[in-house]
Parts: sequence; C-alpha cells; structure tokens
Amino acid sequence: MNVFLPLVVDQALAAAVRAPSPQNTQPWRFVVDGSRIEVRLDRDRVLPIADPAGREARLSCGAAVCNLLLTLRVNGVRGRVRIVPDLTDRDLLAVVSIEGNTHPSTVDRSLAEAVYRRHTNRRPLSDRPVPVSARRLLRSAALGEGGQLEFLDASGHYAQVSALVRRAETEQATDAAFQAETAKWAGRAPDCPDGVPTSAFGPPADVPGVVSLRSSHENRSIPPRQFEQDPVLVAVLTRDQGAAADVRGGMIMERVLLAATAEGLASSFLSQPFEARSTRAQLLAAFHGLGHVHTLLRIGYGLPARRTARRPAAEVTTMRSAPEVAAL
Ligand SMILES: Cc1cc2nc3c(=O)[nH]c(=O)nc-3n(C[C@H](O)[C@H](O)[C@H](O)COP(=O)(O)O)c2cc1C
Repeated sequence: MNVFLPLVVDQALAAAVRAPSPQNTQPWRFVVDGSRIEVRLDRDRVLPIADPAGREARLSCGAAVCNLLLTLRVNGVRGRVRIVPDLTDRDLLAVVSIEGNTHPSTVDRSLAEAVYRRHTNRRPLSDRPVPVSARRLLRSAALGEGGQLEFLDASGHYAQVSALVRRAETEQATDAAFQAETAKWAGRAPDCPDGVPTSAFGPPADVPGVVSLRSSHENRSIPPRQFEQDPVLVAVLTRDQGAAADVRGGMIMERVLLAATAEGLASSFLSQPFEARSTRAQLLAAFHGLGHVHTLLRIGYGLPARRTARRPAAEVTTMRSAPEVAAL
C-alpha cells in the first residue's frame, strides 16, 4: 500500500478545483470512495440563464478531471477516467479509478505545473504572432485528449465567428435576466472564494466592438486601452456531441489551456455565441463539417493578470473511504 496515496489524492483534488468555470461558479463535487474518485455536477451552481443545459458546467468538470489525472500522474499514480453518461444518476459525470503506479513524462510535469499558473487573462494582448511551433503544440495537446483544435484564421471561420461574438454580445447587453445573473457573480472582492473579482476584469477597449473582451467583464473605473487588432482565436472540437462529449471537451480545453500556459501564452474565453439564443445554432452549424464545437478561446502573448480564488477542495469533497489502489 502506498502510504502517500491520501496526500497525493488531496493534491490532485486541490489541482482539480483550479479548473476554470463560467463566472468561477465551480460547479463540481468530488466523492472519494477507496479506489474511485467520482466527479459530480453541482446543479446548484449551473448558471440558469447563460447555461441552462449545464453544458459549460460539464466543460468545467471535464477541466477538473484533466487537472486531477495530471496531478495523480506526476505523483507516480495512474488514474483511468471513465466518462459516465448514467441515466439513473445524471449528475455523476466521470469516475477516476486509481490503478497503480506510472512514470510521468516531461510534458506531464510541465502541464501539471501550469495548473497553478493558468488563469483567464482579459487584458489586451500584444500583436506578436503565435508561431507555427506553438500552434502545432496546442493542436497536439488537443489531439492528446482525443480532440481537435482549429485556429480560426487558418480554418476560414474567423470573420463569421467574430460576427457571431459581436451579435451575441449585443443580444446579451439588452437581456435583463442575463445582466442580473452576471451581476450576481461578477465584480466581487478579490478574496471571495467564488465568482469573478473586479481585479480579474480587463480594461475597457479604446474602440467599441472588439471581440477580445465581453463587456460584462470590463473594469470601467480604469482607463481604456488598445486591444490587439486581430486576436488569435481557436475552437475546441470533438467528433461527438452530448453530455459525455462535453466532459471530454472540457478535458481537451484544459489541456490546451495548460499547454498554452506552459508555452508562455495567455488565454481567455469567448462564450457569448454559445449562450445567446440568436447565435448558438449558427455557431454549431459553422463547424458542422469539422466536429462539435465546445469552446472558443483567445490566445496570445501578454502580461500576466490576477489569479482568482477557489473554495478549498475539502469543502467540495465527500470522503466515503480512504483512497486505495484498485484490485484489478
Ligand atoms: C466554459 C467556460 C466559459 C467561460 N466563458 C467566459 C467568457 O465568456 N468570458 C470570460 O471573460 N471568461 C469566461 N470564462 C472564464 C471564467 O470566468 C474563469 O475561468 C473563472 O472566473 C476562474 O478564473 P481563472 O480562469 O482565472 O482561474 C469561462 C470559463 C469556462 C470554463
């Protein structure tokens, strides 16, 4: 028996809760039961207006699974994930089984280390191009989790998707229910354990209509700044769709974000066209021939922004029985 296993599992759960989530809602719960770690959706933390189907929440739980597996691995513990669309228990999204020992790779180590540095950067990024080598690396990060990453300038979707982002932004700006929901979560104090603090907002753009930043996350008390002219935008895709594909999509998304962080790249999200009624179907249709699109990210070089807080892992974990290695 590995006497360090409980510590390793604690570390893995601490990494899991560093995952990104819409408005930092942290819509997850974990149950440790011997060799099983269940990853469960916390329905009370799904955004009813922006995310009524819980899609973004499932992506977030998938991102938490990615961090959990990576952290087990760099501590020499092999975990295997089973994504479980369980019709009798719809909130159980994934089960990680602890299966024994493994040897982490250098890539595992650099990604696991990036878990604590990755953050959403809503500041202007520089116009420095993202080199081909970095693009290749991010694509292979997606492939490594069984997904696909499209750079929208290369795939020919840039103009169409930017227009959908702008249209969704306009729709949400006049949607009172959306604005009320955002006001509930965004603009909190820096030490608040959930929600998005104002310190993580970006400055307003000097010209209106940039796609880089959603207006709900602008700090209007600081001077406007110039944003990059043509932000590098990527789409995370899977072949399938549905709840299980969302969890997988979240794992892919997180691996891409961690690879970007390890490469010195900043990142942020553009979720408006998934959330607004008038644009969602068009966005999905735009990528139809390529796969199912889960998320749009902006990637580039810039100064780091502030990290946000999390609820401690212990607060979201139920310990049913001490961690152990599965008897295979
Ligand atoms: C599925 C998903 C969608 C998100 N959409 C947006 C978005 O549209 N705009 C934004 O500024 N941040 C977005 N975020 C980022 C979250 O607000 C952020 O992850 C959270 O506040 C925690 O902060 P961190 O990423 O810096 O750790 C999204 C995150 C996830 C996982």
